Amino acid sequence: MATQQYTGGALLSVRNIGVRFGGIAALQDVSFDVAPQTICGVIGPNGAGKTTLFNCLSRLYSPTCGSIHFAGQPLLQLQAHQVAALGMARTFQHVALFPALTVRDNVMVGLHANAEAGFWACGLRLPSMRREERALEERTDAVLEELTLLGVAQRRVAELSFPTRKRVELARALVSRPKMVLLDEPAAGLNHEEVDSLRETLVRIKTEWKAAVLLVEHHMNLVMRCSDQVVALNFGCTIADGAPDAVAANADVIAAYLGGEAA
Ligand SMILES: Nc1ncnc2c1ncn2[C@@H]1O[C@H](COP(=O)(O)OP(=O)(O)O)[C@@H](O)[C@H]1O
Ligand SMILES: [Mg+2]
Repeated sequence: MATQQYTGGALLSVRNIGVRFGGIAALQDVSFDVAPQTICGVIGPNGAGKTTLFNCLSRLYSPTCGSIHFAGQPLLQLQAHQVAALGMARTFQHVALFPALTVRDNVMVGLHANAEAGFWACGLRLPSMRREERALEERTDAVLEELTLLGVAQRRVAELSFPTRKRVELARALVSRPKMVLLDEPAAGLNHEEVDSLRETLVRIKTEWKAAVLLVEHHMNLVMRCSDQVVALNFGCTIADGAPDAVAANADVIAAYLGGEAA
Protein backbone atom coordinates (compact mmCIF):
# COMPACT_ATOMS: atom_id res chain seq x y z
CA MET A 1 0.00 0.00 0.00
CA ALA A 2 1.35 3.42 -0.94
CA THR A 3 0.56 5.30 2.25
CA GLN A 4 3.27 7.64 3.51
CA GLN A 5 4.08 7.94 7.17
CA TYR A 6 3.31 11.40 8.43
CA THR A 7 5.15 12.65 11.50
CA GLY A 8 4.67 16.44 11.44
CA GLY A 9 2.54 18.83 13.57
CA ALA A 10 -0.82 19.89 12.13
CA LEU A 11 -2.13 17.42 9.57
CA LEU A 12 -4.04 20.16 7.76
CA SER A 13 -3.11 23.81 7.75
CA VAL A 14 -5.33 26.32 5.94
CA ARG A 15 -4.02 29.88 5.69
CA ASN A 16 -5.96 32.93 4.50
CA ILE A 17 -7.67 31.26 1.60
CA GLY A 18 -10.08 33.18 -0.58
CA VAL A 19 -12.34 32.05 -3.46
CA ARG A 20 -14.36 34.29 -5.77
CA PHE A 21 -17.17 33.33 -8.12
CA GLY A 22 -17.57 36.39 -10.33
CA GLY A 23 -18.58 39.15 -7.93
CA ILE A 24 -19.25 36.80 -4.99
CA ALA A 25 -16.53 36.13 -2.41
CA ALA A 26 -17.46 32.56 -1.37
CA LEU A 27 -14.40 32.47 0.91
CA GLN A 28 -12.57 35.61 2.00
CA ASP A 29 -10.10 34.82 4.72
CA VAL A 30 -10.25 31.31 6.11
CA SER A 31 -7.48 29.96 8.34
CA PHE A 32 -7.37 26.98 10.71
CA ASP A 33 -5.28 23.92 11.62
CA VAL A 34 -6.43 20.36 12.22
CA ALA A 35 -4.33 17.90 14.25
CA PRO A 36 -4.01 14.23 13.19
CA GLN A 37 -6.66 11.82 14.55
CA THR A 38 -9.07 14.52 15.68
CA ILE A 39 -12.61 15.44 14.65
CA CYS A 40 -12.99 19.03 13.44
CA GLY A 41 -16.54 20.24 12.92
CA VAL A 42 -17.10 22.99 10.34
CA ILE A 43 -20.31 24.93 10.96
CA GLY A 44 -21.94 28.04 9.52
CA PRO A 45 -25.23 29.17 8.00
CA ASN A 46 -26.20 28.23 4.42
CA GLY A 47 -23.94 30.01 1.94
CA ALA A 48 -21.16 30.48 4.54
CA GLY A 49 -18.66 28.73 2.24
CA LYS A 50 -18.41 25.25 3.80
CA THR A 51 -18.78 23.25 0.59
CA THR A 52 -16.50 25.68 -1.24
CA LEU A 53 -13.87 25.06 1.45
CA PHE A 54 -14.18 21.30 0.89
CA ASN A 55 -13.89 21.79 -2.85
CA CYS A 56 -10.65 23.73 -2.30
CA LEU A 57 -9.26 21.00 -0.03
CA SER A 58 -10.01 18.24 -2.51
CA ARG A 59 -8.64 20.44 -5.35
CA LEU A 60 -11.87 20.76 -7.31
CA TYR A 61 -11.52 24.54 -6.91
CA SER A 62 -8.38 26.67 -6.82
CA PRO A 63 -8.43 29.48 -4.26
CA THR A 64 -7.52 32.91 -5.56
CA CYS A 65 -5.25 33.50 -2.55
CA GLY A 66 -3.85 31.76 0.52
CA SER A 67 -2.17 28.41 1.10
CA ILE A 68 -3.11 24.91 2.24
CA HIS A 69 -0.71 22.29 3.61
CA PHE A 70 -1.71 18.68 4.12
CA ALA A 71 0.62 16.09 5.67
CA GLY A 72 3.47 18.55 5.21
CA GLN A 73 2.83 19.05 1.48
CA PRO A 74 1.71 22.30 -0.21
CA LEU A 75 -1.68 21.11 -1.42
CA LEU A 76 -2.37 23.77 -4.02
CA GLN A 77 0.49 22.48 -6.18
CA LEU A 78 -1.18 19.07 -6.42
CA GLN A 79 -3.99 17.69 -8.59
CA ALA A 80 -7.14 16.14 -7.12
CA HIS A 81 -5.91 12.54 -7.57
CA GLN A 82 -2.59 13.39 -5.93
CA VAL A 83 -4.44 14.81 -2.90
CA ALA A 84 -6.36 11.53 -2.63
CA ALA A 85 -3.09 9.57 -2.87
CA LEU A 86 -1.66 11.71 -0.07
CA GLY A 87 -4.42 10.47 2.21
CA MET A 88 -7.40 12.81 1.94
CA ALA A 89 -10.77 11.22 1.09
CA ARG A 90 -14.18 12.86 0.87
CA THR A 91 -17.90 12.34 0.56
CA PHE A 92 -20.23 14.73 -1.24
CA GLN A 93 -23.20 16.75 0.07
CA HIS A 94 -25.30 14.95 -2.55
CA VAL A 95 -24.50 11.25 -2.63
CA ALA A 96 -22.23 10.44 -5.60
CA LEU A 97 -22.11 6.67 -6.20
CA PHE A 98 -22.48 4.34 -9.21
CA PRO A 99 -26.12 3.22 -8.82
CA ALA A 100 -25.82 0.24 -11.22
CA LEU A 101 -22.79 -1.24 -9.41
CA THR A 102 -22.91 -3.34 -6.25
CA VAL A 103 -22.08 -1.94 -2.84
CA ARG A 104 -18.79 -3.89 -2.85
CA ASP A 105 -17.75 -2.56 -6.26
CA ASN A 106 -18.64 1.00 -5.27
CA VAL A 107 -16.48 0.68 -2.16
CA MET A 108 -13.60 -0.88 -4.11
CA VAL A 109 -13.54 2.19 -6.36
CA GLY A 110 -12.11 3.97 -3.31
CA LEU A 111 -9.04 1.70 -3.36
CA HIS A 112 -7.97 3.33 -6.58
CA ALA A 113 -6.96 6.44 -4.62
CA ASN A 114 -3.84 5.00 -3.03
CA ALA A 115 -3.18 1.53 -4.35
CA GLU A 116 -2.11 1.84 -8.00
CA ALA A 117 -0.60 -1.64 -8.16
CA GLY A 118 -3.60 -3.07 -6.37
CA PHE A 119 -6.09 -1.45 -8.72
CA TRP A 120 -4.38 -2.79 -11.84
CA ALA A 121 -3.76 -6.12 -10.17
CA CYS A 122 -7.52 -6.42 -9.63
CA GLY A 123 -8.10 -5.68 -13.30
CA LEU A 124 -5.39 -7.91 -14.78
CA ARG A 125 -5.59 -10.71 -12.19
CA LEU A 126 -1.91 -11.56 -12.59
CA PRO A 127 -0.93 -14.55 -10.41
CA SER A 128 1.90 -12.59 -8.83
CA MET A 129 -0.58 -9.93 -7.77
CA ARG A 130 -3.14 -12.25 -6.18
CA ARG A 131 -1.80 -11.73 -2.69
CA GLU A 132 -2.23 -7.99 -2.93
CA GLU A 133 -5.68 -8.49 -4.43
CA ARG A 134 -6.61 -10.70 -1.46
CA ALA A 135 -5.34 -8.03 0.95
CA LEU A 136 -7.46 -5.40 -0.78
CA GLU A 137 -10.51 -7.67 -0.58
CA GLU A 138 -9.90 -8.16 3.13
CA ARG A 139 -9.57 -4.44 3.58
CA THR A 140 -12.85 -3.93 1.73
CA ASP A 141 -14.54 -6.56 3.94
CA ALA A 142 -13.27 -4.82 7.08
CA VAL A 143 -14.75 -1.50 5.95
CA LEU A 144 -18.04 -3.12 4.91
CA GLU A 145 -18.21 -4.72 8.35
CA GLU A 146 -17.38 -1.45 10.12
CA LEU A 147 -20.31 0.23 8.37
CA THR A 148 -22.65 -2.79 8.71
CA LEU A 149 -22.78 -3.22 4.94
CA LEU A 150 -21.64 -6.87 4.63
CA GLY A 151 -25.27 -8.01 4.36
CA VAL A 152 -25.89 -5.81 1.32
CA ALA A 153 -22.43 -6.11 -0.28
CA GLN A 154 -23.78 -7.76 -3.45
CA ARG A 155 -26.83 -5.50 -3.81
CA ARG A 156 -26.87 -2.77 -6.39
CA VAL A 157 -26.71 0.72 -4.88
CA ALA A 158 -29.85 1.75 -6.84
CA GLU A 159 -31.90 -0.70 -4.71
CA LEU A 160 -30.80 0.72 -1.36
CA SER A 161 -32.32 3.30 0.97
CA PHE A 162 -30.79 6.76 1.24
CA PRO A 163 -29.19 6.19 4.70
CA THR A 164 -27.58 2.97 3.44
CA ARG A 165 -26.21 4.79 0.38
CA LYS A 166 -24.66 7.35 2.69
CA ARG A 167 -22.90 4.55 4.57
CA VAL A 168 -21.61 3.20 1.25
CA GLU A 169 -20.14 6.61 0.46
CA LEU A 170 -18.45 6.72 3.82
CA ALA A 171 -17.12 3.18 3.27
CA ARG A 172 -15.68 4.21 -0.10
CA ALA A 173 -13.87 7.13 1.56
CA LEU A 174 -12.57 4.95 4.40
CA VAL A 175 -11.32 2.01 2.32
CA SER A 176 -8.35 4.02 1.07
CA ARG A 177 -7.16 4.23 4.71
CA PRO A 178 -7.03 8.03 4.53
CA LYS A 179 -5.28 10.29 7.03
CA MET A 180 -8.30 12.59 6.81
CA VAL A 181 -11.88 12.20 5.61
CA LEU A 182 -13.94 15.22 4.56
CA LEU A 183 -17.63 14.61 5.21
CA ASP A 184 -20.14 17.08 3.77
CA GLU A 185 -23.38 16.88 5.79
CA PRO A 186 -23.29 13.14 6.51
CA ALA A 187 -26.27 13.41 8.90
CA ALA A 188 -28.62 15.10 6.42
CA GLY A 189 -31.74 12.98 5.95
CA LEU A 190 -30.88 10.57 8.80
CA ASN A 191 -33.22 9.82 11.72
CA HIS A 192 -32.28 10.09 15.37
CA GLU A 193 -30.98 6.51 15.68
CA GLU A 194 -29.03 6.75 12.44
CA VAL A 195 -27.37 9.97 13.63
CA ASP A 196 -26.38 8.22 16.89
CA SER A 197 -24.86 5.38 14.93
CA LEU A 198 -23.06 7.87 12.65
CA ARG A 199 -21.60 9.58 15.72
CA GLU A 200 -20.23 6.26 16.97
CA THR A 201 -18.77 5.57 13.52
CA LEU A 202 -17.08 8.99 13.43
CA VAL A 203 -15.47 8.35 16.79
CA ARG A 204 -14.26 4.93 15.58
CA ILE A 205 -12.82 6.52 12.43
CA LYS A 206 -10.70 8.59 14.78
CA THR A 207 -9.79 5.96 17.36
CA GLU A 208 -9.73 2.69 15.38
CA TRP A 209 -9.00 3.85 11.83
CA LYS A 210 -6.60 6.57 13.06
CA ALA A 211 -7.90 9.21 10.68
CA ALA A 212 -8.84 12.84 11.24
CA VAL A 213 -12.38 13.87 10.29
CA LEU A 214 -13.38 17.25 8.86
CA LEU A 215 -17.12 17.33 9.38
CA VAL A 216 -19.39 19.90 7.71
CA GLU A 217 -22.71 19.51 9.46
CA HIS A 218 -25.87 21.41 10.34
CA HIS A 219 -26.78 18.88 13.02
CA MET A 220 -25.41 20.88 15.97
CA ASN A 221 -25.96 18.15 18.52
CA LEU A 222 -23.82 15.76 16.48
CA VAL A 223 -21.06 18.33 15.87
CA MET A 224 -20.90 19.46 19.48
CA ARG A 225 -20.90 15.92 20.87
CA CYS A 226 -18.22 14.38 18.70
CA SER A 227 -15.87 17.20 17.68
CA ASP A 228 -12.54 17.96 19.34
CA GLN A 229 -12.47 21.32 17.58
CA VAL A 230 -15.12 23.42 15.84
CA VAL A 231 -14.46 26.02 13.12
CA ALA A 232 -17.33 28.43 12.42
CA LEU A 233 -17.64 30.23 9.08
CA ASN A 234 -19.88 33.13 8.13
CA PHE A 235 -19.87 35.01 4.83
CA GLY A 236 -16.69 33.20 3.83
CA CYS A 237 -14.67 34.14 6.94
CA THR A 238 -13.57 32.14 10.00
CA ILE A 239 -15.52 33.70 12.89
CA ALA A 240 -14.56 31.20 15.60
CA ASP A 241 -12.16 28.28 16.06
CA GLY A 242 -11.79 26.30 19.27
CA ALA A 243 -13.32 23.77 21.63
CA PRO A 244 -17.01 22.99 20.93
CA ASP A 245 -18.28 24.65 24.13
CA ALA A 246 -16.32 27.84 23.50
CA VAL A 247 -17.51 28.09 19.89
CA ALA A 248 -21.15 27.43 20.88
CA ALA A 249 -20.91 30.30 23.39
CA ASN A 250 -19.14 32.69 20.98
CA ALA A 251 -21.17 35.88 20.44
CA ASP A 252 -20.36 36.08 16.69
CA VAL A 253 -21.46 32.47 16.20
CA ILE A 254 -24.73 33.03 18.05
CA ALA A 255 -25.37 36.20 16.04
CA ALA A 256 -24.63 34.38 12.74
CA TYR A 257 -27.20 31.70 13.52
CA LEU A 258 -29.83 34.10 14.88
CA GLY A 259 -29.32 36.24 11.77
CA GLY A 260 -29.80 33.12 9.64
CA GLU A 261 -33.03 32.21 11.40
CA ALA A 262 -34.39 35.75 11.13
CA ALA A 263 -33.58 35.93 7.40
N1 LIG B 1 -19.87 27.09 -8.38
C1 LIG B 1 -20.33 28.25 -7.88
N2 LIG B 1 -20.59 29.31 -8.67
C2 LIG B 1 -21.02 30.48 -8.16
N3 LIG B 1 -21.25 30.70 -6.84
C3 LIG B 1 -21.01 29.68 -6.01
C4 LIG B 1 -20.55 28.40 -6.46
N4 LIG B 1 -20.41 27.58 -5.38
C5 LIG B 1 -20.77 28.31 -4.33
N5 LIG B 1 -21.13 29.57 -4.68
C6 LIG B 1 -21.54 30.65 -3.78
O1 LIG B 1 -20.55 30.72 -2.77
C7 LIG B 1 -21.14 30.93 -1.50
C8 LIG B 1 -20.79 29.79 -0.57
O2 LIG B 1 -21.46 28.60 -0.99
P1 LIG B 1 -21.23 27.17 -0.34
O3 LIG B 1 -19.78 26.93 -0.23
O4 LIG B 1 -22.04 26.19 -1.11
O5 LIG B 1 -21.86 27.39 1.11
P2 LIG B 1 -22.32 26.33 2.22
O6 LIG B 1 -21.82 24.99 1.82
O7 LIG B 1 -21.73 26.84 3.49
O8 LIG B 1 -23.82 26.39 2.26
C9 LIG B 1 -22.64 31.09 -1.74
O9 LIG B 1 -22.91 32.48 -1.87
C10 LIG B 1 -22.84 30.36 -3.05
O10 LIG B 1 -23.97 30.86 -3.74
MG1 LIG C 1 -22.83 23.13 1.46
